[in-house]
Amino acid sequence: MSEIRIEEHGRLTLPADYVARHGLEAGTRLVFEPIEDGLALRFARPDARRAYIEVTTRCNLNCAVCVRQVWRDDPGDMSWETFQAVIEGLRAFPELRRVTLGGFGEPLIHPRFLEMLTLAAGLGVGMTLTTNGLLLDEAMAERLLDAHLDTVVISLDTVHVQAYQQARLTDGVDRVLDNLRRLQEMARAQGRVPPRLGLEFVVMHSNLEWVEQLPNLAQQLGASFIILSNLLPHTPELATETLYDQEQPLQVSGGWALKVGDWLLWGVVRAPRMKWGAWRRCRFIEERAMIIGWDGGVSPCYALMHSYPYYIYGRRKEVSRHVLGNVYEQPLADIWA
Ligand SMILES: C[S@@+](CC[C@H](N)C(=O)[O-])C[C@H]1O[C@@H](n2cnc3c(N)ncnc32)[C@H](O)[C@@H]1O
Repeated sequence: MSEIRIEEHGRLTLPADYVARHGLEAGTRLVFEPIEDGLALRFARPDARRAYIEVTTRCNLNCAVCVRQVWRDDPGDMSWETFQAVIEGLRAFPELRRVTLGGFGEPLIHPRFLEMLTLAAGLGVGMTLTTNGLLLDEAMAERLLDAHLDTVVISLDTVHVQAYQQARLTDGVDRVLDNLRRLQEMARAQGRVPPRLGLEFVVMHSNLEWVEQLPNLAQQLGASFIILSNLLPHTPELATETLYDQEQPLQVSGGWALKVGDWLLWGVVRAPRMKWGAWRRCRFIEERAMIIGWDGGVSPCYALMHSYPYYIYGRRKEVSRHVLGNVYEQPLADIWA
């Protein structure tokens, strides 16, 4: 580290040893970025580390709390050409570490999901799938293992249980749990490390009693993490279900032991933030993440990838989709620059 002083008219002179060490020739583009305790100076190069791709906005469930009930966007599947442009575009990001196939639809219902998985695997980075797990049958499990998918996040909460009932899937929970067990057994039988499993649970007043039991379920299933999230209420009625500003913190056990091959792991619960309001941090900025919608539109975070209302403290808020560019019109690296 080296101290520098601002000169007249806001000019900066970088120390000569930094200039030499980092090859900072005249014309090198750098960007200033506000960070928690100051400003960081970074090279202006495609620096995304994570890409979230929404391959479809359609879903095989119709959850009552889902943004899909109220959004103002056209539904659709990502075309093969768009997906190819996304994967090709991601090759320009030397720091890319992970691709997540997720979003607000159910990725496994995309008719070309398996081909997409294979193409994405060619990037050679970590791959996560976010799914409700209903379609994760034996054939699908085989392909996920072949593509070296390393993390599966399964949405399993009372909202999903209600949605199974609405869809007359009386065995919905058992089907999802069986699918997860089979995926792991198949991995072990093939001598592979099973994908890391996580459970995602939306916490509300009406399902608080279940939260304490989740670590037990996670342990039985071999899941190594639980993501608890707060409900974003999309109707005035649902606003009464949110847990923001509770006096008591969420009661969740500290963790659970998991045996994975020769390793003993410790499962963890990621609890949600319990205060609504200004929080000068953004998980997506910290992860250097980009979000790509089904139509190729690139957004800075999940919250801004669709247009929808929500209700907080008795007020209706409108979110409008924010798109930085579209992979049809520009290479991803130019959009992100
Ligand atoms: C919208 S789903 C879509 C992906 C996939 N079909 C699935 O079920 O995982 C993604 C996650 O968002 C959660 N979710 C749905 N509506 C929500 C809301 N209003 N507030 C917070 N989370 C919500 C779901 O429970 C699920 O865990």
